[in-house]
Parts: sequence; C-alpha cells; structure tokens
Amino acid sequence: MSDSKKPGNPPSTTGAGAPAVSDRNSLTVGTNGPILLHDVHFLEQMAHFNREKVPERQPHAKGGGAFGEFETTADVSAYTKAALFQKGCKTEILARFSTVAGESGSPDTWRDVRGFSLKFYTDEGNYDLVGNNTPVFFVRDPMKFPHFIRSQKRLPDSGLRDANMQWDFWTNNPESAHQVTYLMGVRGLPRTWRHMNGYGSHTYMWINAQGERFWVKYHFHTKQGMEFFTNAEASEMSGLDADYHRRDLFNAIANGDHPVWVMSVQIMPYDDAKTYRFNPFDLTKTWSHKDYPLIEVGTMTLNRNPENFFAQIEQAAFSPGNTVPGIGLSPDKMLLGRAFAYADAQRNRIGTNFHQLPVNKPKVPVNTYMFDGQMAYEHSGNQPVYVPNSGGRTWSDETGKVEDGWDTDGDMVRSAYQLHAEDDDFGQAGILVREVFTDDQRNQLVDTVAGGLLGGVRSPVLERAFDYWKNVDPDIGKRIEDKVRATKK
Ligand code: HEM
Repeated sequence: MSDSKKPGNPPSTTGAGAPAVSDRNSLTVGTNGPILLHDVHFLEQMAHFNREKVPERQPHAKGGGAFGEFETTADVSAYTKAALFQKGCKTEILARFSTVAGESGSPDTWRDVRGFSLKFYTDEGNYDLVGNNTPVFFVRDPMKFPHFIRSQKRLPDSGLRDANMQWDFWTNNPESAHQVTYLMGVRGLPRTWRHMNGYGSHTYMWINAQGERFWVKYHFHTKQGMEFFTNAEASEMSGLDADYHRRDLFNAIANGDHPVWVMSVQIMPYDDAKTYRFNPFDLTKTWSHKDYPLIEVGTMTLNRNPENFFAQIEQAAFSPGNTVPGIGLSPDKMLLGRAFAYADAQRNRIGTNFHQLPVNKPKVPVNTYMFDGQMAYEHSGNQPVYVPNSGGRTWSDETGKVEDGWDTDGDMVRSAYQLHAEDDDFGQAGILVREVFTDDQRNQLVDTVAGGLLGGVRSPVLERAFDYWKNVDPDIGKRIEDKVRATKK
C-alpha cells in the first residue's frame, strides 16, 4: 500500500478537487520515461509553480507583519467623529513593518527607514495609515519620489547599490537633510520592529460630529522602549540572519509576548495652519511638541501571527487613500500623490480585484460599482451595474462643500511650497543633532556618515556632502569632513 492510501492520510487533490494520484512520480512510459502529456496533475503543478510569485512591492519589498487590536482609551470626540477613535471602541488591525530600499530577500537589519503600515478594519470601512518609523520624509513633492527610490536602489549597469548615487540625490535635494539625519542616526538601525516608534508622518485632517476640522499628526510610541543596533551589530546580524526582524516579531507573538504601542496625536486648529512658523503640510518638518503637545488616544497590540505569509502579508494592500468618515487627507502634496499611487501599484502587483482578498476585504458590506476583471470573486448578482438606476440599487449623491475639504484658490502653477516664517531645509535637522541626540549618538552619526561617504562617493558629490552636513551643524560637518579626509589619505 502506498503511503497516501494509509488511513488518516488522504491524498492531495488537483486544483479541481479530485484526488491526485501521485505527488512524487510523474507518469512515464516505462520507469525511465518519456513523460506523458496527459499527466494533468503534473502539468498543473508545473504551470502553477511558474506563476506562484507576484511582483514584490516597489518600494518596501522586505517586511513582515501581524494582526492585532487597537483600543481607543481616551475621549477625542472633540476632534474626530471616526467610529474607531470613539472611547471604548476596539478595532481589529493588521500591521506590516518593512525596509524601503532592499528587495524581498534582503537583510532586514540594513540601515534604512522602516515602514509602519496599519490597516484598521473599522465598522465604517478600512482605514489605512501607512507611515514610517520617522516623523518626516526625504522630499516634499511627489514628482521626486520615483527618482528618490531609484537613487537608493541599484545602478543600471552593475546592478549594485551605490553610495555616490544616494548622496548625489540627497545633496541635490537639501530638503532631505532632516530625514537623512534621522536615517544616519540611531533610528536607522532599530534593534527590532517591536522596539521602534511609528509615525503617520503626514498631516491629516480630523473632523468632529459638528463638522469642525483639525489638522492631526499621529505618533505610535513603543511600550517596549526604543532600542537600536550599533553599526557593527547590524552588519553582523545582516550576515547571520537576513530575516532577523521578521523572525523576532513572529517568535515574540508566538511566545505570547505581544508588542504594544501607545497612539497619541498632535492636534492643530484648522486656522493655525496659515500662520504656523513651519508649513504644517511640509513632510520634511515636524511640529514642535511645545506648540502642539501629544494627546493620548489609545493602544495598539499585535497578538496574532499570519497563518500564511503570502496570503496575508505579501498580498496585503495598504493605501493612504483609504480613509473613513471623520478622517481626511490634507494639502500635503506627497500625501495627495500617495492617494493615487498605492491602489494603482496593487492593481498591478496583486491584481485588479486585490480588495476582494480576505486580508484586504472590509468587515462591512461593500456596495461598489467596480465589477468584473481578473479574479472577480465578490459580485453584485444581477443588480444594476450603472447609476442612476431604476432597479433599486443604492448609490451615493452628495453635492456641495465636502466635509473633509480645505480652502484653496489660485493660479495653476508648478512651484515649491510657500515658505513660512521659520522654514528652511536644515534648521530642524540641526535641532535634532544638537538637542535630541546625546554625545554618544552624535559620535555615532559622525562615524556612520563618514563611513558611508568613504564607500565610493566621488567629487563633486563628496564636497557637496561636506557642505550639506556643515549646513545641518557646522561642528558635525567639520568632524565628518576631517574624518573622511584623514581616512582617504
Ligand atoms: C509620493 C510619495 C510616495 C509614493 C508615490 C509611494 C509609493 C509607494 C508604493 C507604490 C508602494 C508599494 C505599495 C504596494 O505595492 O502595495 C509603497 C509602499 C510603502 N510606502 Fe510609499 N510612497 C510614497 C511616500 C511614502 C511616504 C512619505 C511614506 C511614509 C511616511 C511611505 C511609506 C510606505 C510604506 C510603509 C510602504 C509599505 C506598505 C506595505 O507595508 O505594504 N511612502 N509606497
């Protein structure tokens, strides 16, 4: 009796559900072949294998994630009517953490910004907050984003990553200084995903039940405490275990050690935006906590691992465009660019009907007029497929001023943002170095930047990099230059 015929060991099946004859031997003429074309099970296995990968995310390909719960513990109804942020509400969530530049097989301990993506399966539809472990970003116009990512990825000829290309982009785009300072500082090497903070980064809008609008920034502070790798520890780990961060999160949750973050917000009254000393929609800037203190909202706990990495993490589709009533976008040009980019990437990466997959599907009934296309699973039966219709199928028809809109007028222009009183490219980066970093962290910053500049950065990029850092902080810039020149001699 073959193994598969033993009681308690039923055979596998074909995709059509019929018993498969063998998963070990193809059907041949005689023991030495040739293979027969009508071994349908064998052909199905071969053909499906050829199609079992989807394109990896461009960017943020390497990551991992888990499910959990968000609980709103404070009353913030004065600022938002969103059901998920009403006191006592508990919402199922999915979180995915990632690196930005590396491919899906790359070490997750390389120095990089970390993605911090959240999907809240709320009673009003899915709300996605797709942020990072830093509160700012490298650029402030979405036109620059593809160029930025290309500069951090690989050279066209050798296929190698290239420090000269990275620094060429950064130094030619000085608004990157604040984020590059974060990246070259300790936060560029979190010890685990559990030990890092998360940020919505952009300014979003909250709307309360009276229709009043507020600008909001999200902060997720790790209850585990922030912990970091040194350069040496991280490079050792990237050689020893390319999946260290993915493994750490999975094992922690499997062992019942459920990581927790506290979510707080900074709230800016709608009218303050016009006159705040920094342009509040400029993604390279933070809002001072002295001006807008943190207000605690609730806690996020990750407590359930995926059962299937591909189905639930690789096919997960997060989009900053997914908002719910009581939450809106803002005039941040980056955010508006992102509102388009993600679902479009997912239609390409996963398929037209990616939103129908269990991990992406809202917990509320869906009544969408998007229909058919590859892999359509959910459908609306024989209901009308157009609006307006006389068949009794409902549709939306709000007109007039939108509740999550903002005031705007002017000529159509291509232009940088209007500067506010204290806006410049280097000021907040300098404050980070001088007022937030410790002596030890400043020393590490000098070592990290100088080390990076030694890796093939050539003139004129090298001189621009020295100036860039002197603009961040004259002393740090000089120390970096001295160190590089001493080592390059
Ligand atoms: C105009 C600017 C940007 C564009 C066009 C853009 C585009 C993209 C695209 C196409 C993906 C892959 C999505 C997928 O295949 O599922 C992605 C992933 C991601 N991006 Fe962006 N991005 C931008 C800026 C940002 C910013 C500012 C942040 C953080 C504040 C960010 C955080 C992320 C994260 C965390 C992911 C991974 C999502 C996941 O876990 O599935 N991106 N981005």
